[in-house]
Amino acid sequence: MLVRGFWVAAIPVAVVLAALPASCKREPPRPAQTQPADDLAEARRAMVERLRAEGIADEKVLDVMLQTPRHEFVPADQRPFAYDDEPLPIGEDQTISAPYIVAFMTWKLAPKPTDSVLEIGTGSGYQAAVLSPLVKHVYTIEIVESLGKSAEERLKRLGYTNISVRLGDGYQGWPEHAPFDKIIVTCAPTHPPQPLIDQLKEGGVMVIPFGELWAQDLYILTKRAGKIEQQSVLPVRFVPMTGEAQRR
Ligand SMILES: C[S@@+](CC[C@H](N)C(=O)[O-])C[C@H]1O[C@@H](n2cnc3c(N)ncnc32)[C@H](O)[C@@H]1O
Repeated sequence: MLVRGFWVAAIPVAVVLAALPASCKREPPRPAQTQPADDLAEARRAMVERLRAEGIADEKVLDVMLQTPRHEFVPADQRPFAYDDEPLPIGEDQTISAPYIVAFMTWKLAPKPTDSVLEIGTGSGYQAAVLSPLVKHVYTIEIVESLGKSAEERLKRLGYTNISVRLGDGYQGWPEHAPFDKIIVTCAPTHPPQPLIDQLKEGGVMVIPFGELWAQDLYILTKRAGKIEQQSVLPVRFVPMTGEAQRR
């Protein structure tokens, strides 16, 4: 079991760094604007080699991770760390998930070119961007307005044309575009929301973290003959799903 996954999902990195001894802290970054594009490309290649060595066994996923500019999805002061295997702060007390988690969840979703995919928790838009070339369409919902708006602008600026962003509570899913072949959830409720289960196609797959804050696992749910088969694949820690999920 990949226990390292426990820390990689979504904890604000400043909190983790503050708790580290001085020798574990990173050197101050070079200002982002002086970081050459070649350095970033090399860092991205190194990240993909690490993901491969760590067991991500889907070449299509690795190739998309190689093509997707994660540094465009983080604030300027985080760009020097964009290809480290860490979650990074994106504002509003939220994070972009670590590359390993994004690669692992994408792999386990088993994306196909004909798939219509729903994502809950747009955040920076990076996970949606990674899915974009692998599927037909990505529908993604973000509850924090400023994050959703900036992700939508970013995805448009970067030329993604098969991603639709909606502001709102993802607990209820997106009934107008249901049913979905795949659903990926990047924030953690205590239980899988029933509306998301209802909006999953027969034979469809949902990758979702759930549980209490200190006891979450990542699950693969598969709908067969109207019933849900559930497999726990990795201990994780994601930010909680807010909104309706916290009123249940
Ligand atoms: C770990 S971040 C997601 C990272 C994101 N997938 C990315 O690639 O940057 C979790 C996100 O889920 C959002 N979120 C939390 N509860 C939500 C809800 N009920 N509906 C939609 N988004 C929600 C948070 O605001 C946050 O942006």
